[in-house]
Amino acid sequence: MSLRSCALLGLAASALAAEPKVLHMPMARNPNANPLAKRDSASVTVTNALSEGIYFVNATVGTPGQLVQLVLDTGSSDVWFFGPNSCDAKTSDCLGGTYDPSQSSSVLISQPKGQFFIQYGTPGSNVTGNYIKDAFSVGEAKVTNLTMAYATYAAYVPTGVMGIGFDTNEAITAYGGKPYPNFVDVLKSENVISTKAYSLWLNDLESSTGSCLFGGYDTKKFSGNLLAVPIQPDESSGELTSMTVAWTALGITTQSGSQTITSSSFKSPALLDSGTTLSIIPDDIYESLVTFFDATLDQAGDAIVKCNLLDDSGTLDFTFGGSDGPVIKVPFSEFALPATTTNGQQATFNDGSLACYLGLQGTGSDPTSQVPVILGDTFLRSAYVVYDLDNKQISLAQTVFNATDSNVVEITSASPVASVVSGVTVTQTASGNPNELGGPTATADPTGSGSSIGSGSSGGSDLSGSSLTVSLTPATATGSASSSTSSHKSSANPAPGPDFMSTALIAGASMLLGGVFFVLH
Ligand SMILES: *[C@@H]1O[C@H](CO)[C@@H](O)[C@H](O)[C@H]1NC(C)=O
Ligand SMILES: *[C@@H]1O[C@H](CO)[C@@H](O)[C@H](O)[C@H]1NC(C)=O
Ligand SMILES: *[C@@H]1O[C@H](CO)[C@@H](O)[C@H](O)[C@H]1NC(C)=O
Ligand SMILES: *[C@@H]1O[C@H](CO)[C@@H](O)[C@H](O)[C@H]1NC(C)=O
Repeated sequence: MSLRSCALLGLAASALAAEPKVLHMPMARNPNANPLAKRDSASVTVTNALSEGIYFVNATVGTPGQLVQLVLDTGSSDVWFFGPNSCDAKTSDCLGGTYDPSQSSSVLISQPKGQFFIQYGTPGSNVTGNYIKDAFSVGEAKVTNLTMAYATYAAYVPTGVMGIGFDTNEAITAYGGKPYPNFVDVLKSENVISTKAYSLWLNDLESSTGSCLFGGYDTKKFSGNLLAVPIQPDESSGELTSMTVAWTALGITTQSGSQTITSSSFKSPALLDSGTTLSIIPDDIYESLVTFFDATLDQAGDAIVKCNLLDDSGTLDFTFGGSDGPVIKVPFSEFALPATTTNGQQATFNDGSLACYLGLQGTGSDPTSQVPVILGDTFLRSAYVVYDLDNKQISLAQTVFNATDSNVVEITSASPVASVVSGVTVTQTASGNPNELGGPTATADPTGSGSSIGSGSSGGSDLSGSSLTVSLTPATATGSASSSTSSHKSSANPAPGPDFMSTALIAGASMLLGGVFFVLH
């Protein structure tokens, strides 16, 4: 069954009152591996298929609905999109369309203007704009008066973002503002779903679509059992602000057997982030893997491998939450991101073999500029991940690539996915002082009127008891500037100079290493 027929099934099922309250949202991956020129490198003029990791959803905003395509991001918590003439084409691909508030009859612009400000992990990223309340819909799910923002200026971000993390991580909280109900909160308060939970199935690197299911999980999209681990708190606030879990072992399996490469005492917070293209792991582990995969480093320090070394003969095995916890085996091939030349051909080594980027980066060894451990799309494609914000747990199982069947189970507080495996804990220390963000001091209520959304009627879209489908589409990459690999709030960092930009291939990844990250508050 295709995603489309799956969607139809969902709709048909919505007639039955007892059907689970879930929102099914297929996603498309940007198929245009938007090449980034590596102009400064004489030896390897290559570009990277960076957009490989960007997963878009089709959404409409306002009345009548204006189409915007947004990166679905578990690593942030605000929904924003480009406003008219806001996108800095020198630093951004400006993908996904624009929303013009003057064309919406239902918009409420928060006063004073200019209060929205967010930065992500890519240094230089800067999105400044206005909070609004307006209608927002993805597929058949429509919420009215959702607090969002449109950019009046946006740099070093490839596209607008649909953040689906905890409201405690909204940009406003960095300035002492009170969290507002975000999309996931409103889905629950408007009774579209019973529990703030969603499942992501990205499917494999060769596939252009994945799906996100709000309120439930699909037993046909994974093998074995879903095993749950607790979401770990932020060190400084003690609050749950990010999708951080305890990563407790890494192994390598090849035809000649398996071995664990981390020590028995290894544990690290790891952020499961759909908005980050690569995976960023501790330096020592990264270095052993660079050696293991026989990678060479390019000028920017990114690891290049012969693509055929990353075949399916082996896996990297990630264990979470201790020895009883879930293990996700990621085929080597999922880490092979084709490197392409400026004329669109795949880059080769001198001996003619195809060149690929290794979809991994190190965190950096300097403690002051270290980035957090992030398991991004190169890891997530191999996992079926259920993010359960209400029950404070994340469940993982091995994904089934290209699965076409569907069997959706609703998640409720009375029936969480699984009981959590016993306890290795870590704290996320990669948070920073929000004041370092240096942005405008916005403390006002972004909802403007002070009224809260999502607490009243669902404005004519009574979604109670429905199954809903959202379709997504790949956006068309047009520009030649950088794409962001990460979507985390970070400290203010001067924008890299033009030279840096033009060399940046796994652009975000390299650039990220230069930046001080703080994902969390
Ligand atoms: C972000 O961009 C706005 C608009 O150009 C600018 O006023 C502001 O200083 C920038 N902030 C940072 C931290 O770069
Ligand atoms: C949105 O909220 C405002 C008040 O905050 C209200 O005046 C308006 O009618 C609401 N719009 C919809 C479509 O519910
Ligand atoms: C999944 O399907 C794609 C084509 O859509 C194919 O290239 C890929 O090899 C398939 N993956 C697996 C694991 O079968
Ligand atoms: C998303 O929107 C684009 C632009 O209208 C459209 O071409 C595409 O078919 C849509 N994708 C899906 C899956 O509906």
